[in-house]
Amino acid sequence: MQRYRVIRERPDSLREAFTKIFRRDSGVRDFEALRGVSFTVQDGEVLGLMGRNGSGKSTALKIIAGVFEPTSGRVEVLGKVAPMIELGAGFHHDLTGRENIMINGLMLGFSRKEIMAKEDAIIDFAGLGEFIDSPVKQYSSGMFMRLAFSIATEIDPEILLIDEILSVGDAEFQEKCNARINDFRHRGKTIAFVSHSTAAVSALCDRAILLDHGKLLADGLPKQVLDQYDSLVHQPA
Ligand SMILES: Nc1ncnc2c1ncn2[C@@H]1O[C@H](COP(=O)(O)OP(=O)(O)O)[C@@H](O)[C@H]1O
Ligand SMILES: [Mg+2]
Repeated sequence: MQRYRVIRERPDSLREAFTKIFRRDSGVRDFEALRGVSFTVQDGEVLGLMGRNGSGKSTALKIIAGVFEPTSGRVEVLGKVAPMIELGAGFHHDLTGRENIMINGLMLGFSRKEIMAKEDAIIDFAGLGEFIDSPVKQYSSGMFMRLAFSIATEIDPEILLIDEILSVGDAEFQEKCNARINDFRHRGKTIAFVSHSTAAVSALCDRAILLDHGKLLADGLPKQVLDQYDSLVHQPA
């Protein structure tokens, strides 16, 4: 379970402002972003996470990545994880793409030498041309994603976590990403990825789960879960 402390900065109405004074409401309330969600990802499995906006997908990935400790419950992760969760997270905006490759690699636990050996391949796959030597604050979101995806996959982790960010890539790069995800899959790696793309989930995933309002609504074959997701998005929230 993951509970967030939500701070409401301003009362929504005058009446609420008065009630607040009388009740000594601190303006802080707890919000459960995930409730009783339990699932296992097998070694070598590609899991798709689906659900409407705000259903808890990113929160689930952040818990797996160790960004958050769950408020209650536990998570067990076996293997080295490369998370691609928030665009630009882990990047130093004043440094160049090339410098960020080094920093990211070190943060993920690789040695300077190991990263140097992979640098060319990372740059080549990202396809940023001369922009690799520009400060990343000049990058578009698509360029950020290219570099992040290239680093995360070239360093060859056992577990790859990918949030919706792939969707900011152009069609050509998305195809390259899909091919690489497939390659990971065939090499027995474990992947959890969030996607709204029915095509991507059915083509790449062995299994899918569906989250809704922080609860696990379905867990099974992509086809079944996709059908359930479809009927969910065609009904009012
Ligand atoms: N840092 C945070 N503080 C407070 N609430 C948050 C925070 N991050 C996410 N939430 C809330 O938790 C819920 C789930 O968010 P999230 O996991 O980002 O959903 P999804 O990725 O499925 O769109 C949402 O209602 C969101 O507003
Ligand atoms: Mg999200």
